[in-house]
Amino acid sequence: MFNTEILKYSPLAINKAVEYILNGEIIGLPTETVYGLAGRIDNINSINRIFFVKGRPQDNPLIVHVSDIDMANKLIKKPISGIIKKIANKFWPGPLTIIMEKSNLINNVISCNLSTVAIRIPNSRSMLDIIKKTKIPLAAPSANISGKPSCTSAFHVFDDMKSKIPFILDDGDCEFGVESTIIKLSQDGRICILRPGGITFEDLYSIDNNVYLSDSVLNKTLISECISPGIKYKHYSPSGDVYLINGNNDSFSNFLNNNINTSFKNCAIMFNNDNINIQNIDIFYYGNSTDYKFQSKNIFSILRDIDKKSYDKIYIRAPKKIGVGLAVYNRIVRAADFKVVDLD
Ligand code: TXA
Ligand code: MG
Repeated sequence: MFNTEILKYSPLAINKAVEYILNGEIIGLPTETVYGLAGRIDNINSINRIFFVKGRPQDNPLIVHVSDIDMANKLIKKPISGIIKKIANKFWPGPLTIIMEKSNLINNVISCNLSTVAIRIPNSRSMLDIIKKTKIPLAAPSANISGKPSCTSAFHVFDDMKSKIPFILDDGDCEFGVESTIIKLSQDGRICILRPGGITFEDLYSIDNNVYLSDSVLNKTLISECISPGIKYKHYSPSGDVYLINGNNDSFSNFLNNNINTSFKNCAIMFNNDNINIQNIDIFYYGNSTDYKFQSKNIFSILRDIDKKSYDKIYIRAPKKIGVGLAVYNRIVRAADFKVVDLD
């Protein structure tokens, strides 16, 4: 049990974080995507502790964070080259994770016995300062309890991790609010997006038009077909039944008015510019309908608020699958466990 301390970003806070990491402790820290729960990759106790405090299934591998491409190259079988090098040079540091064949510096607990490792250079001063000072790559999953919405502020991390970790570094709200885009080079040399995020389909397409979405981004996949282990687990879910509603302002409004059962505790999440007349239901707003960046920044925070209020039914108006809107759609459809209502 720890008396968890939260410190704002400062040279002193970074030194404390470095000390904890070097001592093999795990800490909460911000990135530009979501807050992570970080530990040094070369200390098996740190890695085991990450799995333990999150309640993370033992077959769901961790992302390894590095500060530069040279550090990444040490963790993989062959140095980054070709189209992946072009993509890495363009989008690192940033919200992009690349799956590559691992070197023997990656132990099997991190990679869950896969032959590959997920690597990213975050665009986060906290994470980069710490890695540069320790010169050790950091394994860091999102800092939430497994299955729950990710943490986009230090207070979210405190809610999930208080007394389980000694220290949380606070650098305000995360810029993107959804986790990094994960990509992998397919057998036939195309770029496969396993998880959409801040580096969008359109961004990747502008570098190489041989890019495609894994089926699992928008559809429930059979466990046997999973290419990313995390996909088979429940994700981002507040308690209550979540429904993703594909519709416009009017069809969503009609749907709510015709389908709400008032013996349940209901809420709806919609756009700030929606104009919907409905009673007996709590309403949350997650941004204007075309402001995908604002939606991504807010969605987890709203899902976490809703989780605390114990709704029975949660109806979410779907975002457009454009830009980072695709990442928002993906998180909502998974929070809904693929319960989708198509109105139009
Ligand atoms: O933005 C992010 O990526 C955040 C911040 C903290 O960096 N991290 C994050 O980690 O989202 P996590 O653990 O919540 O999600 C990592 C995902 C999991 O779904 C996992 O299954 C997948 O990456 N993954 C990790 N290693 C993999 C591998 N070798 N092959 C396929 N998928 C992998
Ligand atoms: Mg996660």
